[in-house]
Amino acid sequence: MIDPDGHFGERVAAHYDEATPEMFESAAIDPVVDLLAELARGGRALELGIGTGRIALPLSQRGVTVHGIDLSEAMVARLRAKPGADAIGVTTGDFATTKVDGAFRLAYLVFNTIMNLTAQDQQVACFANAADHLEPGGCFVVEVGVPSLQRLPPGETVRPFDVSPSHLGFDEYDIANQGLISHHYWPLDGRQASTPFRYVWPAELDLMALLAGMTLRGRWSGWKREPFTSESTKHVSVWEKAPV
Ligand SMILES: C[S@@+](CC[C@H](N)C(=O)[O-])C[C@H]1O[C@@H](n2cnc3c(N)ncnc32)[C@H](O)[C@@H]1O
Repeated sequence: MIDPDGHFGERVAAHYDEATPEMFESAAIDPVVDLLAELARGGRALELGIGTGRIALPLSQRGVTVHGIDLSEAMVARLRAKPGADAIGVTTGDFATTKVDGAFRLAYLVFNTIMNLTAQDQQVACFANAADHLEPGGCFVVEVGVPSLQRLPPGETVRPFDVSPSHLGFDEYDIANQGLISHHYWPLDGRQASTPFRYVWPAELDLMALLAGMTLRGRWSGWKREPFTSESTKHVSVWEKAPV
């Protein structure tokens, strides 16, 4: 049976915040909130895939009005249980197509979540949807990994990304279809999960932005505007909707 909460149903939501504790530390959060608050310039912000509010809550506490879209009721229930959540509106739905009233100065999609859309046309629709919500001159920010195909030996399809006593993680690549499945195993409590993604190249995202009427304003390898180079393993990219 297909879970209406997608790959972030009750089982994942229950462990989401503790599964990657380093992503909830202020060293990880503060630079994200700093850059997003700067780009919001006092306007409203729309988070695509707001989840349990890892970024939305501190951004809202910084004085930015935040609204979110998410298809997982289980994830949003965790957000709703946190202090400060009443300041944040959430619309349930697919962020590639769901509409929210009003215009935003900033839309953002962090933590590799663009890859949760597993078809190119869905990713294209997501860029168009983000642009539709932006004021002229507004920005769309995406944080996503650079596909690590250089690290995949010829003929191999599986690459470990985390091997520790408490967690084993493997990415399984389907190169012909630009797909990958991340497999997670937690040996201590016997849990496992597999999530499908569509990995996507920076230049392909630039083209999606262009199709949606946005142009690249900045690309860095991190939230503190570290240079993006051939060795970068992730990027934070900002596209701007044409000012009128
Ligand atoms: C990796 S979590 C990121 C949550 C939050 N942005 C963060 O940084 O912690 C991905 C979130 O996106 C949501 N999501 C994935 N695909 C979606 C889609 N097509 N439409 C709406 N929400 C989606 C999931 O339910 C989940 O809450």
